[in-house]
Amino acid sequence: MDRIRITGGNELHGIIPISGAKNAALPLMIASLLTDDTLTLENVPHLADVEQLIRILGNHGADISVNGRRERQGESYARTIHFTCRNIVDTTAPYELVSKMRASFWVIGPLLAREGRARVSLPGGCAIGTRPVDLFIEGLAALGANIEIDSGYINATAPTGGLIGARYVFPKVSVGATHVMMMAATLANGTTTIGNAAREPEVVDLANCLNAMGAKVTGAGTSTITIEGVTSLSGARHRVLPDRIETGTYAMAVAMTGGDVILEGTDASLLDTALEAIRRAGAEITPTETGIRVYRNGGGIKPVDVVTDPFPGFPTDLQAQFMGLMTRSNGVSHITETIFENRFMHVQELARLGARITLSGQTAKIEGVPRLKGAPVMATDLRASVSLVIAGLVAEGDTTVSRVYHLDRGFERLEEKLTRCGAIVERVTD
Ligand code: UD1
Repeated sequence: MDRIRITGGNELHGIIPISGAKNAALPLMIASLLTDDTLTLENVPHLADVEQLIRILGNHGADISVNGRRERQGESYARTIHFTCRNIVDTTAPYELVSKMRASFWVIGPLLAREGRARVSLPGGCAIGTRPVDLFIEGLAALGANIEIDSGYINATAPTGGLIGARYVFPKVSVGATHVMMMAATLANGTTTIGNAAREPEVVDLANCLNAMGAKVTGAGTSTITIEGVTSLSGARHRVLPDRIETGTYAMAVAMTGGDVILEGTDASLLDTALEAIRRAGAEITPTETGIRVYRNGGGIKPVDVVTDPFPGFPTDLQAQFMGLMTRSNGVSHITETIFENRFMHVQELARLGARITLSGQTAKIEGVPRLKGAPVMATDLRASVSLVIAGLVAEGDTTVSRVYHLDRGFERLEEKLTRCGAIVERVTD
């Protein structure tokens, strides 16, 4: 099994191209099930989660071709992928496929809207809490779906004549449930209003793509989204927005090591809150013509408290990385996780590198230390794994991160991007 070995101590200098957002690409790919026409997505990152979803969509009948011509983007490559689902050949998403990635559960929305039925396994994915599906069920039931749970599967059926537009207010903000309800409502009869909707940029990206396909979605990016149902959707061409989590991760890596890096092809407005926290920690961050410049020289890392929150708050997907950064601050910081109840598994691994962190409920207290020391550590989930890489970049000696399949789910060419900026990072295959 692959491991990543990092030899700490080097600053980062250079250019890091930012990939298309995994969390936008996945729902956009799923939206291709809503039409019998071709949906073309540009700037799709090459990640294990994307490959897994390609298999799942293929199982439902999608014909998928990856453009032979790879789109050059800085030193990285983005892919253009065409999805054509003329007929849905199977409305079941089996356990073997769904258990590997939670987002594949989201096919329930388009299948139900287009075919009137879906049988979808209850999801798996990162082990970061219980992650129930009650909000999906309540949202789809509000559109008239009949939903039963049987042997680990959700069986959903639409009323004769299709889903019916409705007003539904989510009791809690959920990105996935917002995506699913928005997709399902595009083909419903009448108008749907989603209250307390997620406001994440990836929701806006999906709404823009759905509108390019002929849907009538307004209000995405606010907490109230209105969808006027249409009878069918067409194909479209859409470019996946830049990955704000990858952007924030590399910004934190530069803040950690010191140096001067341009994050190319990204947009600071996608992650204002996180960038502000990194600035307060001591890095300079300025927008450039092609992206963002992150710079830290001389001064140490200052302690900064953060609390995760739905967008536009500090993203839970950057919590582990920020904790990695705070392990080397010159004071005491606190990080509170409010989205997932079990998202501190990186704490004990960071401790193996010499970090001093104590947990009290959902809050971690991080006492900055002057040095970390390399050690073998284990990736526990996607974002946690990259926090270990960030810490490893400044730890003395070698840090070896095992179970890197977690990293491969969400970070495209991580070793290459860091190595080009002067880090010593290599993949070791046993
Ligand atoms: C998405 C992101 C993930 C990110 C998360 C929060 C993708 C592919 N994944 O995950 O990277 O960490 O948003 O920003 O985009 N919940 C319920 N019932 C439900 C659904 C969710 O209680 O039916 C809870 C979850 O357990 C969690 C909270 O709602 O506590 C937010 O989860 P949600 O926004 O749904 O996360 P995902 O869409 O799974």
